[in-house]
Amino acid sequence: MSRLVVVSNRVAVPKARGVAGAQGGLAGALNSALKKHGGIWFGWSGQETEKFTGEINIRRGDGVTTATIDLEHQDIEEYYNGYANSTLWPLFHYRIDLTEYEQEFGKGYERVNERFADSVLPLIEPKDLVWVHDYHLIPLGERLRSLGLKNRIGFFLHIPWPPTRLFVSLPFHERLVRTMLHYDLIGFQSEEWMESFIHYCSKELGAEVDEDACTITLDGRTTTAKAYPIGIDYDHFMAQGETGEARQAEQRLLSSTRHRTAMIGVDRLDYTKGLPERIDGIGRFFDFHPERVRELVYVQIAPPSREDIKSYQHIRGLLEQKTGQINGARSEVDLVPIRYVNKGHSAAELFGFFRASKIGLVTPLRDGMNLVAKEYIAAQDPDNPGVLVLSRFAGAALQLKDALLVNPHSPDDVAHNIRLALDMPLEERKERWEKLIVTVREDNVLRWTENFTSDLAGVDHNP
Ligand code: G6P
Repeated sequence: MSRLVVVSNRVAVPKARGVAGAQGGLAGALNSALKKHGGIWFGWSGQETEKFTGEINIRRGDGVTTATIDLEHQDIEEYYNGYANSTLWPLFHYRIDLTEYEQEFGKGYERVNERFADSVLPLIEPKDLVWVHDYHLIPLGERLRSLGLKNRIGFFLHIPWPPTRLFVSLPFHERLVRTMLHYDLIGFQSEEWMESFIHYCSKELGAEVDEDACTITLDGRTTTAKAYPIGIDYDHFMAQGETGEARQAEQRLLSSTRHRTAMIGVDRLDYTKGLPERIDGIGRFFDFHPERVRELVYVQIAPPSREDIKSYQHIRGLLEQKTGQINGARSEVDLVPIRYVNKGHSAAELFGFFRASKIGLVTPLRDGMNLVAKEYIAAQDPDNPGVLVLSRFAGAALQLKDALLVNPHSPDDVAHNIRLALDMPLEERKERWEKLIVTVREDNVLRWTENFTSDLAGVDHNP
């Protein structure tokens, strides 16, 4: 088995971060993949340095070796807060209203990709498979090729690929996609995002597409593009559920909600997650059924994310306001309908909270996959499983078809499905869950890694 060199913006330093999807699906998924294959995980340390030196900090532990570099303030501003999270992230989640097109961001993005390429190159051995991740590092493969790297290089996009009509609003869109076609294999979370990408390549670049072989050919170079829906580290997550920490968390939530049903949402505080829209849906449910405030308590866990960016500060304010309004209008002296928690929690605690909650609300406006939905299913008691209410606009909806699928933009639809979930008989809950758990268990992160890496080892290679 070839060694794996994984490159991503964020690297989970062993034991420093939880594995839960809510804390960034990518970190947990890659940790598991690397433990199996051996190799190196390279990325940004998350630290700022005064002057970029390219010095690499190597750490071994927990079966995974990480190699990280620090970035300068200007790099972080222009590349991470700028091009990655104020240009590509909103655009790829269909939010052109929030997308910022600043030239300096683009230059910073290219500079940091060059820095990544120069720094990781000496760590790569001739037979290694190189696997680059996510929107922060789209041009990295082309940079590595221009430095003479001959290895097989794959790229996986963890977020959606937008429709061509939106994507062309990006200045230099063509340049960005042309760099992508230097990868040997490109993976997407779902067929939908893959089709949008292929549509762009064929309509805008005039590339030749072979749909059966899943290949895109341009200027004599062929790239394979396929969908590989990511899963959770099922065994690891289930083992978390066996811990005292998980059981305590479950008891804590159960005893504090007493006779009320707990409904839970766990999301990074991000505008793509549809949090204000979800609160509107919950508000609508209480408008329709005011007496049921005694039956239902909503727990929203939302650790803050990307806090230096204005659109994230705004979404936080909006959520606080909406939660406050509903709690003000619907609380009684002895009950509060919405509990809003800004902290992150360990995977074991989340397991316990999910198990104690008879409804899981996962309603992003747009999401590449969404692993919280899968973790919620995994954590359920087979004899008394809860109901997953899932946005039809999450990649996960293409796999988890037995969830209650909702339109997160419609408060009426969200309210209606909360009502259905709350009143669903045990038999139907079990029937749905038994189908859902098969996908969650079988299509797990190890299978995802195997599928991607074995395809990468076998695809047409044009260094
Ligand atoms: C999404 C992205 C990941 C990212 C994670 C957390 O899942 O696809 O690449 O790591 O969000 O975001 P952050 O900006 O904190 O790394």
